[in-house]
Amino acid sequence: MRILVTGGAGYIGSHMVKLLADRGDEVTVLDDLSTGHADAVRGAKLVRGDIANIGSTSKLLEENRTEAVVHFAAASLVAESIADPLKYYTRNVAGTAALVRAMREAGVGKLVFSSSAAVYGNPQRLPIDEAHPTEPVNPYGSTKLAMERMLAECCAAYGLKAAVLRYFNAAGANPQAGLGERHDPETHLIPLVLRAAAKDTPVSVFGTDYPTRDGTCVRDYIHVADLCDAHVRALDWLAARGTYGCFNLGNGDGATVLEVIEAARRVTRKEIKLNKAPRRPGDPPSLVADATKAKRVLGWRATRAEIDTIVSDAWEFEQRRPGV
Ligand code: UFG
Repeated sequence: MRILVTGGAGYIGSHMVKLLADRGDEVTVLDDLSTGHADAVRGAKLVRGDIANIGSTSKLLEENRTEAVVHFAAASLVAESIADPLKYYTRNVAGTAALVRAMREAGVGKLVFSSSAAVYGNPQRLPIDEAHPTEPVNPYGSTKLAMERMLAECCAAYGLKAAVLRYFNAAGANPQAGLGERHDPETHLIPLVLRAAAKDTPVSVFGTDYPTRDGTCVRDYIHVADLCDAHVRALDWLAARGTYGCFNLGNGDGATVLEVIEAARRVTRKEIKLNKAPRRPGDPPSLVADATKAKRVLGWRATRAEIDTIVSDAWEFEQRRPGV
């Protein structure tokens, strides 16, 4: 297939590009490199540009005779979204509206969209299925939900076909390919724990009095390779019969912050010191996915669900991370 990947120089996007290129798809990446890395794009042409620019995107889609778009490009920091919501409405919602407009101009009808468990807000029941109420508690989640709704409405109005994938906690890496998390600033637990292990500095544990099995937050960590596999299946589903669908992507099995640190101790064989810190505002105690629908409809199965596997791949990448 001829595919445009927006945000293909970013963490999840770069893994996706490599997977598509490896399976023989013709891939073009559109990325403004505001957070992504040009050297993370493997097996695809990189075009530096902004999805907000309708004219140049539609030209790119036409020139490449693109058949489908996989859309990762977005601002994705919860804390930043609270401080600067307009950045999120502009880059995410207006940016995605521009992308869909460009797709319409170029006659491209299939889209796979990166959404987030952040659309659910504070869970009312666990595990969370797709019918769970969507009441986001921060602008990042609000913009993801707004984009989902816009896409559903565009599917109904224009015959666009879209698969919306709600990620739980993306983690892990492809150390063989030199791909992994290179966020700046890094805010995610697993890379921070591993950097603390490497530097022999303490890692902060945000909150130890949550109503969970050990008092720390539970998250459903899902390997980035499993996430990407679901995107490939979503593309195939749209090509075969899908019109619109949203799917949770998680393992259905959460780990606490302390369990992640324990896994990192096993993997790195280092001690890893803790610094018990106050709760981080806006963190729900537990987020665990019910991904039955993705299994049933897309035939998706996670193959790297063990937390030790996820942490081990991230550790291997961390030890050879560019710029270290
Ligand atoms: N945590 C720590 N110490 C740290 C960093 C994180 O204790 O140094 C804790 C957090 O408080 C949280 C857990 O580790 O309980 C996971 O935190 P992350 O920042 O790794 O991930 P989040 O669950 O906050 O974020 C994920 C996605 C976001 C998404 C968000 C919303 O990465 O894109 O879920 O549900 F928006």
